This record gives sequence, structure tokens and C-alpha cells, in this order.
Amino acid sequence: MRSPARQLPVSVALTITASCASRARARAEPARLTLKDAFASAFLVGAAVNARQIDGADSIGEAIIAHQFNSVSPENVLKWAAVEPRPGRFNFGPADRYVTLGERNGAVIIGHTLVWHNQTPAWVFQDVAGGAVSRDSLIARMRAHIAAVVGRYRGRIHGWDVVNEAVNEDGSLRRSPWLQIIGPEYIAMAFRFAHDADPSAELHYNDFAVEGSAKRSGIVRLITSLRAEGVPITAIGMQEHQKLDWPTTGAIDSAIVDLAATGLKLMVTELDVDVLPSNHGQRREAVEQELMRTGAPDPYRAALPDSLQQALARRYGEIVRVYLAHRHAITRMTFWGVDDGDSWLNNFPVRGRVNYPLLFDRRGMPKVAYDTVLAAALASRRN
Ligand code: G3I
Repeated sequence: MRSPARQLPVSVALTITASCASRARARAEPARLTLKDAFASAFLVGAAVNARQIDGADSIGEAIIAHQFNSVSPENVLKWAAVEPRPGRFNFGPADRYVTLGERNGAVIIGHTLVWHNQTPAWVFQDVAGGAVSRDSLIARMRAHIAAVVGRYRGRIHGWDVVNEAVNEDGSLRRSPWLQIIGPEYIAMAFRFAHDADPSAELHYNDFAVEGSAKRSGIVRLITSLRAEGVPITAIGMQEHQKLDWPTTGAIDSAIVDLAATGLKLMVTELDVDVLPSNHGQRREAVEQELMRTGAPDPYRAALPDSLQQALARRYGEIVRVYLAHRHAITRMTFWGVDDGDSWLNNFPVRGRVNYPLLFDRRGMPKVAYDTVLAAALASRRN
């Protein structure tokens, strides 16, 4: 568990930032270069920020955000459950502070996410008797929520993940309460409501495991039909929660080619690389039982062996080189967290494990993977 407030005297934080640079100086040319600088001619580099960074309880994290990234995404503070926990009762405090943090750093600010099957309070889908709400009422609730949230940050939030994870592995639409109560048109409605609330905002469809060909075909079908209807969608978000050995770079490349062929911009929206052993697609319950039985899938509690640091660095290098090869289609690459201690992958699929999926370690120090990613950007600049 993280210390409540990771506050170090500014002098120490600056020392760490300086040591970031000095370590960079030692290994990479030119010394002043940061992630956002190195990728400046390719695409934006962002990070998902959490409540502790938003609330000033993590000055190391904040220093890294300011120093390394030129885009920010809200890990949780703009999700329906956080921003409208009860009907018409909005909790905008954390979200206001998130937007202020982004503006303070001159970052491109992203909104995540308006319509999702997760982290949406039960009341949204229920009538006063607790039964399923009517179609018209749910449409009205969606419109009111989007108008209030997108409207509040009009001209300040650059782009929104309007609809998140609406397509299944087999390419069909996920049978969420949105689909069951409103029907497939809920997706087009969400984009139109968002556009009405802020006509200048970029509007994204966001999903994971787009490397799965059946799922990807479903997403391409969805995007093609939305565009045919004139729905104001501008981009596709590829979450990119990857493993050390899956998906292949070939599958990532094919996904980018197919999604770019829709004519929309692409963004890498939630990049991380899970280093803990897991059987791909193994259900959460199965891993929990295995953990109870063997305790195995949590083998690096003390530290990540150097062999795996090197494997992670190689993996990030190969993944980022694919993105750089498609720099004309990709406008942003966002990591889902700032350092290893922040990552949701410490608590998924089981809580309380020790994972190492990002470029900065729990002390805020750049890892070997950071150097590889920086080197990939420098190499692509020379091409
Ligand atoms: O806010 C409550 C807090 O009051 C309570 O004390 C605490 C104890 O359980 O839980 C807190 O809520 C947690 C929330 O994060 C805020 O920290 C939830 O339990 C926890 O489940 C939630 O996890 C988030 C997860 O989405 C929920 O699905 C992760 O932080 C976040 O990284 C993750 O992000 C998603 C993207 O939005 C969409 N794509 C996949 C990605 C990973 O699942």
C-alpha cells in the first residue's frame, strides 16, 4: 500500500527531476530530452493521472507529469460514478482540479469517459421502483449528464472518450444496460449529445484488445456505420493494455492499418505492459483460485529481476516502434498511470499484487524501459 501523501521537499523533487535528466544525460543524447520532447515530431505523450496527483499528494508524480508529458487523462475523476454519484448531484471538485492541473502544465487535456458499462451508478438504469428505467428517461439522463459534464469544460477539455468498450471479443455489441434499454442507437446519440455540448471537442470511440480480428471487424463496422450516419466522431482510442509476449507486433500493426483505414485519427489511450504471469484471457475467478492455491502469480513482490527489466524494455521498444511507424495515423500515446505504484495492474485481476507495467519505478525513477522508448523516438527522428 502506498504512503498516504508522497510529499518530498521540493528540493528533493527537483533533485529527482534533475537525476532523471542526469541519468538521461548519462545514457541518452541530448541530455535535456524528455518523452514529450523526443516524440514532439511524432505524437503527443500523455499519462493517466490519479486523485493523489490531482490533489497535490504526490509531488514526485506531479513533477514527472510536468516534466515528461504534454497530455493528461483522468484515471477515474470524470467517470459517471465519480462525477454524478446521485441523480443531478454533481461532484465537480476533483474534475475541476484535474483540468487545472492540465492547464497548469500546458497539457492537452482528455476527458474519460462519458458512456461506459463500468463505474456507472445503478440509479442511471433504474426507475423509482428499482425496475429498468424507460428508454426515453435513459436517453434524457444520458443527454443531461453529457451536457452538464462536457458543457462545464467546454473549450478546456480537448477530446472525450465518449463511448468506452461497447464491442465484444466476437465483434457484436456488448449487451450493456445502454444497449438493452436504448438499443444500438445509444452510441450515435452519445456522440451527438457531446458535440452539442462542445462542438470544438474531439470525440473518440475507445476500446481494448483491438488486436483481436473479430473484435476489430466489429469496431470497423460500428465506425463505418456511424460515419455513414454523419455522427460527429473524430478518432478511435486503442487502449493497448499489453502483456510481455502478447499481442504480437504484427497484430498491433494490422490493427492500426485496419482502424486507420476508417479515415479516423488513432490514439493509444491506456498503454501499459503487464509483467505478471497470467494465462491470456483467463477469467478473474480462475486467477483468484490459482492465487489462493499457489500464490504463484505474484512472484516479484520485492523487486523485478533484471532479466525482466530487460524484457520489459525490449517489449516497450518493439511496441513503440510500431506506433512510430504509423506516426501519421496516431496523434497521441498515453500511458495508463505515471509510475508502477500507481498502476491498476497492482489490483487486477486480483488486489494487492506488485506489478511493474510503466516507465517509472515506485521512487519516480526512469526504468531501463524509459531509455528504450526514448531511443526509439530518437531513432525514428533520424529516419
Ligand atoms: O473511490 C473508491 C474509494 O471510495 C474506495 O475506498 C476504494 C476502495 O475499494 O475504491 C475506490 O474506487 C476504485 C476506483 O478505481 C477509484 O480508485 C474502485 O474500487 C476501482 O475498481 C477503480 O479501478 C479503476 C478501474 O478502471 C475500474 O474499472 C482503475 O483505477 C482504473 O485504472 C481503470 O481504468 C480502466 C479505464 O477506465 C478503461 N479501460 C480499462 C482500464 C483498466 O481497467
